[in-house]
Amino acid sequence: MNKTYYITTPIYYINDVPHIGHAYTTIAADIMSRYKRLCGYDVFFLTGTDEHGQKVEKAAEQHGVSPKELADRMVHRFTDLWQALNISNTGFIRTTEERHKKVVRHMFEKAYENGDIYLGEYEDWYCVPCESYFTDLQLKDGLCPDCLRKPEKLKEESFFFRMSKYTDRLMRLLEEKKDFVMPEIRYNEVASFVKGGLRDLSVSRTSFSWGIPVPVQKKHIIYVWFDALTNYITGVGFLEDQDKFNRYWPCDAHLIGKDILRFHAVYWPSFLMSLGVEPPKHVFAHGWWTIEGQKMSKSLGNVVDPYEIVKAYGVDEFRFFLFREVPFGSDGDFSRHAIIHRINGDLANDFGNLTSRSVTMIGKFLQGKIERPEKKGGTDEYVEESVRKLVDDYQREMEVFAYHKALHNVFEIISILNKYIDSEAPWKLSKEGDVRIKTVLYNIWNSLRIVSMLLYPFMPQKSEVIRKALGMGTSFQEVLFDNEKQFYHPDDISRIDKIAPIFPRIEG
Ligand code: ME8
Ligand code: MG
Repeated sequence: MNKTYYITTPIYYINDVPHIGHAYTTIAADIMSRYKRLCGYDVFFLTGTDEHGQKVEKAAEQHGVSPKELADRMVHRFTDLWQALNISNTGFIRTTEERHKKVVRHMFEKAYENGDIYLGEYEDWYCVPCESYFTDLQLKDGLCPDCLRKPEKLKEESFFFRMSKYTDRLMRLLEEKKDFVMPEIRYNEVASFVKGGLRDLSVSRTSFSWGIPVPVQKKHIIYVWFDALTNYITGVGFLEDQDKFNRYWPCDAHLIGKDILRFHAVYWPSFLMSLGVEPPKHVFAHGWWTIEGQKMSKSLGNVVDPYEIVKAYGVDEFRFFLFREVPFGSDGDFSRHAIIHRINGDLANDFGNLTSRSVTMIGKFLQGKIERPEKKGGTDEYVEESVRKLVDDYQREMEVFAYHKALHNVFEIISILNKYIDSEAPWKLSKEGDVRIKTVLYNIWNSLRIVSMLLYPFMPQKSEVIRKALGMGTSFQEVLFDNEKQFYHPDDISRIDKIAPIFPRIEG
């Protein structure tokens, strides 16, 4: 395998329990990983946990344990959840690992040696939750412009990273690569931020101690973002396994929420430039979920626990819902009503019924065997052509993370098949002893085999069940998209018989 693909999620703070937002980004990365593997790529998929910083230090204090103890305890909440959600990550990184600290120190030292980091003094408005400084001008009525909380005036000795030195190079990067930041609305946001000129960035703190000390002056702790972002190169072997690093870097896509765009699209590429390492190829920032119309927050008590949703509705149903309901990139609202509506409509009615009926008919009318038809008639040609075109559209949309559009194409196919079944009425053909029934059921079988592959990245378990029910002896881990998307007749198909209800209706 020569083609490689490297995708990442943010590393999540371990002071919090994982919720629907963390699940969202991680599932999104899993979908792309599975899709790229189907396309024959050697995929490296990295996720992990962000374990340093003031927030973790404070949370540990509240729990009466050391920060490392807290991290060791909390990290399982994430790894367990990824298992429950069928996340196929190939790497996992914790920022407290030695391999990571080594890389962070190295990056800091290099920047210091080449004059990109200098010692200075800082005085400005600091917002603790957002970990950001703001000038008077940037405050909104005296409050943090991002979270509208009250910032504190802070003065500290600090190391600074010369962002000003990289403004021009960032501008050039953005001009040359219009898809460096996706979607477009986020690109524009970043471009205008950079155009406005960049202030040097404070990259150390003296106000807490849980973190990686600055190599040249140990009372300073390396700023959590300088530490955290670096995980993306540690995770693929930087300083440790140069072959591996060269194989996967530059990263194909950093998937993130829109809240941390600036860190990924402005600061991170600058740190890399200073280190002499290529920037990532793409940063994709998605939108935020609200819950039943409200901002999700601990104080409102409406934080959505992914386990609970999986228990109530099923893991594939949950994965599917997140990307069918809302354009990937936009904000969305999570509600029980909406997920039930999607399950009953798209999955139980439109897709599940079609699949069960078709499998049953092949069992009953064709003794479980499909055959390549001799001649075409009716709307056969139209069906085959439509599937072909919609599969191409699907691929184009997947390439740019337009998951909702990709899924829209899949449901176009499903709708065409439902109409085809109704108009060709195989049950009537069977009664009349018309051989055309073979052609019709063959076409449906072929289309469903392809549809189950298109849905596989989103619903890996159910898609495998369907593939098996269609008589296929191999799993999706063994197939290649380009072969599998053709209309064909496999030699070694097993008897097609029946399938248990795939997507039971939910009474809401
Ligand atoms: O920011 N809707 O970690 P974090 C959608 N450690 N996505 C959401 C969400 C919501 N309501 N809430 C959170 C950090 N997310 C840093 C990252 S990376 C080098 C360091 C998702 O635990 C979204 O992806 O606060 C967001 O970017 C991430 O969780 C923030 O996770
Ligand atoms: Mg956060």
